[in-house]
Amino acid sequence: MKLVESSLKPLSTSMFNVEHIRTDFPILKLKIDGKPLVYLDNAASSQMPQPVIDRMVKYQTMQHANINRAVHYLSETATTEYEESRRRLKRFINASEDREVIFTSGTTDAINLVAHGYGRKFIGSGDEIILTTLEHHSNIVPWQMLAEENGAKIRVVPINDTGELLIEKYKQLFNKHTKFVGVTHVSNALGTVNPIKQMIEFAHARGVPVLVDGAQAAPHMKIDVQDLDCDFYTFSGHKLCGPTGIGILYGKAALLERMQPFKGGGDMIASVTFEKTTYNTIPHKFEAGTPPIAAAIGFSAAIDYLSAINMSMIAAYERDLINYATEQMRHMPGIRIIGDATEKVAVLSFAIDGVHPHDIGTLLNQEGIAVRTGHHCAQPVMQHFKVPATTRASFAFYNSMNEVDALISGIQKVQKIFS
Ligand code: ALA
Repeated sequence: MKLVESSLKPLSTSMFNVEHIRTDFPILKLKIDGKPLVYLDNAASSQMPQPVIDRMVKYQTMQHANINRAVHYLSETATTEYEESRRRLKRFINASEDREVIFTSGTTDAINLVAHGYGRKFIGSGDEIILTTLEHHSNIVPWQMLAEENGAKIRVVPINDTGELLIEKYKQLFNKHTKFVGVTHVSNALGTVNPIKQMIEFAHARGVPVLVDGAQAAPHMKIDVQDLDCDFYTFSGHKLCGPTGIGILYGKAALLERMQPFKGGGDMIASVTFEKTTYNTIPHKFEAGTPPIAAAIGFSAAIDYLSAINMSMIAAYERDLINYATEQMRHMPGIRIIGDATEKVAVLSFAIDGVHPHDIGTLLNQEGIAVRTGHHCAQPVMQHFKVPATTRASFAFYNSMNEVDALISGIQKVQKIFS
């Protein structure tokens, strides 16, 4: 695999060898109705490179047993590999300790863990939780369920028409009842990058902890949880070229220790009697039952793969890609780009005058182009822009400029059909 011309030269996107990278992804060779696949649905799920597939096959064929349960060779091997995966994830986000990384089934599971483990214990009647209009449903509904149960209140940060949070309004929402902030790092529907470091600093000055939903950020930029100083950060494996069914919750150790477990079962206990159960230490307190061992190992292989390419290089290349796509689309008659934030990554949501997004998706599919159409599990964003749905092209580092051109000519074909 030849990723860059020379690792000694300074990073520059001209050194980013996308054609070589693409050879690592078997699925990109697919043809849909005889047309080459143009996969632009990466915000929903990215594709898996051969080294990650190989790593999972190796685990399943030669290393699999249950973890933490036996002294035999395979159980010890699987346990070592699983814990090594945790260590790699810790390094990937620059957490200070392994035990601050909890394996979950994904971002949704992680946010539910915090809503139950932290929210039920520390947020009560009359307390307020600040969320934003840009949240995915997974960072709205768990908090609403909590609020319904315990009488807490949800306050929402509005956005402007470019799809950016109104930070002054955010600041005005704080009062003595504010107990928690949940904010997405990057909007899945629009690609807006939120100023989370500034938001965290403001919340912390008022003693309020912050959870960051990083599902759409971690695939596109270097994440440093110590630099951000977030209390919780979460993302999913399948959006970072890993498998489904796995994600992580990062939490500051002091907070995780004070939280109550979310799921009960094997491995999360220190001792069990019918009179009283005591809990294991973190992270195990939050990992009840047999975890997705193969997925965790695949996840760490995926972040190794991304790190070998270099997250800064990925970010720089994707910036060129989205700028190129945006510039072309901006000049097309009958196209409305939805979400035009100054700080934006990898996502282009748009509408074509007079064409329903589902028709756009269907016609683009006939050209081999995979985009997502719908509300993207972010209905409050759609409500702000007064649209029921958008068409969303979402890019990854393995997409090429030629694929942007294919998208543009696909859109022109759709316009022609409806003209
Ligand atoms: N959250 C994923 C998306 O934005 C599924 O498409």
